[in-house]
Amino acid sequence: MSKALDGVKILDFTHVQSGPTCTQLLAWFGADVIKVERAGEGDATRAQLRDVPDADSLYFTMLNHNKRSITLDTKNPKGKEVLETLIKQCDVLVENFAPGALDRMGFSWERINELNPRMVVASVKGFGPGPYEDCKVYENVAQCAGGSASTTGFDDGPPMVTGAQIGDSGTGLHLALGIVAALYQRNTTGRGQKVLAAMQDSVLNLCRVKLRDQQRLDRTGIMKEYPQYPDTPFGETVPRAGNASGGGQPGSILKCKGWETDPNAYIYFITQAPVWPAICKVIGREEWITHKEYATAAARLPHLKAIFATVEEWTKTKTKFEAMDILNVYDIPCGPILSMKEIAEDQSLRATGTVVEVDHPTRGKYLSVGNPIKMSDSISEVTRSPLLGEHTEEILLDVLGFDAAKVTEFMAAPGLGGARVAAG
Ligand code: COA
Repeated sequence: MSKALDGVKILDFTHVQSGPTCTQLLAWFGADVIKVERAGEGDATRAQLRDVPDADSLYFTMLNHNKRSITLDTKNPKGKEVLETLIKQCDVLVENFAPGALDRMGFSWERINELNPRMVVASVKGFGPGPYEDCKVYENVAQCAGGSASTTGFDDGPPMVTGAQIGDSGTGLHLALGIVAALYQRNTTGRGQKVLAAMQDSVLNLCRVKLRDQQRLDRTGIMKEYPQYPDTPFGETVPRAGNASGGGQPGSILKCKGWETDPNAYIYFITQAPVWPAICKVIGREEWITHKEYATAAARLPHLKAIFATVEEWTKTKTKFEAMDILNVYDIPCGPILSMKEIAEDQSLRATGTVVEVDHPTRGKYLSVGNPIKMSDSISEVTRSPLLGEHTEEILLDVLGFDAAKVTEFMAAPGLGGARVAAG
């Protein structure tokens, strides 16, 4: 079966998380992703958070599936020559170096465009143009600068970052879409272009509902869907809303049976308006169906805390899965709080390929996420991440068209990056 991005060659200059997420997605859609790394060390994440001595870390393996690895010193004149040839052969260059690093290497946009006017040059940076454009940025910095941290957590606590890597993986997703769009436009213009996804911008894009709420607050001074209402006065900025949805369908996290000992015995429960009568029946409060203080969504807003406390008395008598089974019969929107252990063991996620088991020559079997985007005519198969420089020879031969003598010369020059690896 063919793949959506068959024939697309990506020169992958990414490292850590944001860029590799992007190129891994493109690889899952069938692009040939050639990861360029420095000989000897490679992507710093290979050695970070190691759980198996001397094996590539899960941090690295889980972000670099389906790629090939070439080692190359791009600051050495001979290495530069190889890189120039790669630029001429590939469709897209993706990088997430610190601002200016690619220019310092001698590969400005102008130079790349001169070498290959059809090349799409895609970058992740921490910030777009402006006062912070030269800053180095990691995940939590982006969460803070993009508005997520100030709106996450509880009202009486400090700003909070989330476990979902919206700064890194979120920006990688944005960049991948930009690249595919640029390739599509190239079909008509014949030209490449620059694509930039700034981490601050991507986080803000994912936090847009809070910018919505800021403007509602500016205009009305109050937000009845927030847990501060009606007891706590609002200030000038969108407050942290805890686990409240804060949107049109009020929701909250409620305790379930076993919560005293199990930190994840909780369920997210949404009081969606159309199923209000069903909710009242399930929790044994049928009088609320017609009571004037509970019958409509608007009337319920000042009583949300009391309503959720009552629903919780019911959820505490059920496990989160029992509650799910009962509530789903009535189409009441709810979701169990799943631990990573439960997700790792979930057979339905394995069946869809959302969680996959991968074998690796030095670390053995491990779990990873598969492509979360499912396409009927472009099926993703997850293959293991490459060892450092595993495909150097192969790429020199197949992609660059080097003859055997030139390959041997390159491989004999470890300074260039050509040290051989055992693929295992
Ligand atoms: N051969 C020779 N040199 C290489 C090379 C190769 N194959 N690959 C990388 N390098 C060099 C670069 O040219 C650069 O050198 P320079 O600083 O002398 O110009 C250096 O290695 C690495 O650059 P840098 O990106 O600054 O790495 P860092 O570890 O100091 O910073 C980040 C890491 C993530 C903070 C930074 O890259 C960054 O801010 N990136 C953009 C935002 C981002 O993606 N953040 C999220 C990361 S998950």
